[in-house]
Amino acid sequence: MKNVYVTRRARFNAAHKLWNDDWDEAKNLEVFGKCANPNWHGHNYELHVTVKGVPSEDTGYCMNLKDLKDIIKDKVEEPLDHRNLNIDVPFMQGKRTSTEILIIAIWEELEDVIAERGCQLHHIRLYETENNYADYYGGE
Ligand code: NI
Repeated sequence: MKNVYVTRRARFNAAHKLWNDDWDEAKNLEVFGKCANPNWHGHNYELHVTVKGVPSEDTGYCMNLKDLKDIIKDKVEEPLDHRNLNIDVPFMQGKRTSTEILIIAIWEELEDVIAERGCQLHHIRLYETENNYADYYGGE
């Protein structure tokens, strides 16, 4: 079994605010900095989605990257791009919009639909800025 790891990159722009209602404004600003700006702010997110699979004898592909592109467009770009993560996105309702929480939510959106194509979601990486990113491999 020669597993190969194939990655597709996608980008989206979205607004958010990090805020904990249990804290006063000073504490929120201290902890979250500019991400607590009351009137929102945006990030240019970049997402790397890596799938794992054995190349098919018929195609030489683990997964057709056109299919992966379409899945990411449907599950990530359409619901997130040019949206407010705190308000507009059904799968983020009631959640904090940190990169960590967002990447877990994106994983949950992608995992099953990729499995339906006979491939395994292996790793996703989400950049909130050029210099800050989170990695998630599923599970605990
Ligand atoms: Ni922010």
